Amino acid sequence: MSVPSESHDEGSGSGSRFVRACLRQPVDRTPVWFLRQAGRYMPEYMAVRERHTLLEICRTPEVAAEVTITAAERLGVDAAIIFADLLLPFTPMGVDFEFVAGEGPMVHVPVRTADQVRALRTDRVDELSYVARSIERVAAHFARPRADGDQLGIIGFCGAPFTLASYMIEGGSSRNYIETKKMMYRDSMAWPMLMEKLVTVLAGFARQQVEAGADVIQIFDSWAGALSVTDYRKYCLEATTELVRLVRAMGVPVIYFGVDTASLLPAMRETGADVIGLDWRIPLDVGWESVGSGCAVQGNLDPITLFAPEDILRARVEEVLRAAAGRQGHIFNLGHGIVPGTPVDAVINVVKWVKETRVA
Ligand code: CP3
Repeated sequence: MSVPSESHDEGSGSGSRFVRACLRQPVDRTPVWFLRQAGRYMPEYMAVRERHTLLEICRTPEVAAEVTITAAERLGVDAAIIFADLLLPFTPMGVDFEFVAGEGPMVHVPVRTADQVRALRTDRVDELSYVARSIERVAAHFARPRADGDQLGIIGFCGAPFTLASYMIEGGSSRNYIETKKMMYRDSMAWPMLMEKLVTVLAGFARQQVEAGADVIQIFDSWAGALSVTDYRKYCLEATTELVRLVRAMGVPVIYFGVDTASLLPAMRETGADVIGLDWRIPLDVGWESVGSGCAVQGNLDPITLFAPEDILRARVEEVLRAAAGRQGHIFNLGHGIVPGTPVDAVINVVKWVKETRVA
């Protein structure tokens, strides 16, 4: 565990270059990891997937830890994100869902009325403790520093209130978020109650992960980019800020990530997150300017560039590093998750190139 930026002193940083970068402390080189680094593009993951469903993997600490560790070691990255899913907190809240092959998540009875929101449970977060047990295993595995003396960072995560609400209300993935926005605009009882309940559950879930050994918590607001700046500020900023505040008070830095967020970045920064995750549509230096220099940034290679020929891929990696210009507080990542079919060798090459680049 490490201390968030407001209370740390410059010299006493963590032994993890990933955590140090989150706190905008000096590092020997840019840390690197990938969104969805353990996923269907990786044969080792698919071998485990043949024997288990996605939810079985998430709910079996031995297997979830194995998947997490294998991906981090195969790629040689500086951080391991725990294998879990955004939707896991739905179960103890009383919302049934499943993952349908090829279609993604499906919530059986979408939450669309104030009565349904009122019925959501916030007192059973303990049922998610299998994620904490997975983290303990990963933390024990990576307890000793690696050959280069660096401590691998362990990332716990949860969804942001808006993105989770969108799955609950729409019942799955969505294009226009009509039902979500209808509740937001029309039901001044249900929407704030839903935001508040989600914050309670997510903070409890994050706390379990921090106590189990997560060094950093990433909050995924994957679909916040569907909102105008006005609506993000009016309907989501307060709840998200409260979640960030609660997690930072647990003594870990927070990474706050969304997709298609160029116009939202200044508002996202107001949540108080230590690091803002940038998608690839905005040049990294422009995005950093937008969040301000008092904040670290993570990103932001287009994940589909991993399908490009080596010279183009390498040029894009260099472009991201050049835009970061060796400033303290850059974590190399993609602008969104690795997709199925991505060549593993391309991912490994990116790690190699980032490692070869000295920032100072
Ligand atoms: O290394 C890792 O990052 C894996 C751990 C992880 C998973 N989900 C496992 C998973 C993480 C960090 C997530 C977060 C998550 N889950 C997000 C936020 C990240 C993002 O992409 O913005 C979201 C939106 C979800 C919800 C979710 N889970 C969806 C929409 C889907 C279906 C996607 C698809 O391509 O089918 C999932 C399924 C899922 N969760 C997979 C994995 C590896 C792929 C499906 C599988 O293995 O069967």
